[in-house]
Amino acid sequence: MKVAVRLNGRDAELECEPDEMLLDVLRREGLGSVRETCGIGVCGACTVLVDGEPVSGCLTLAAQAEGREVTTVEGLGGADPVQRAFLDAHAFQCGWCTPGFVLTVKALLAENPNPSDPEITEALGGNLCRCGSYVKIADAVRRAAAEASA
Ligand code: FES
Ligand code: FES
Repeated sequence: MKVAVRLNGRDAELECEPDEMLLDVLRREGLGSVRETCGIGVCGACTVLVDGEPVSGCLTLAAQAEGREVTTVEGLGGADPVQRAFLDAHAFQCGWCTPGFVLTVKALLAENPNPSDPEITEALGGNLCRCGSYVKIADAVRRAAAEASA
């Protein structure tokens, strides 16, 4: 089947099987930032934004994206304030989890531009970092929020 989406700001048609997950289809499209780790909706490595909401690509059928706006980190272009904040805060070690965190933070700040520390912790609860960079990730969120309000 073909699924028409707006993918990273462009119209796209995703070729997929009816039971294929968005994670697998996006990776086939060359979007390597969408990563599989647990495959069961626990780690957040496969996080993408669908109409601005973070979803697990491993739990979302590609067909469910029909007519919707899908954003991966590739769509942020590299100069996004959240991406810059992660760099400035050194908020990663291996970087495997980083795309998922960045997209979750994008969604958080879009809804809540000045989150408290407990709100940051709660919003990031679905993303795991095996390198344990949580303190610096929270710092990146505060930096991005401060920059946005400056
Ligand atoms: S790979 Fe999807 S949540 Fe872990
Ligand atoms: S930076 Fe390595 S898993 Fe998060």
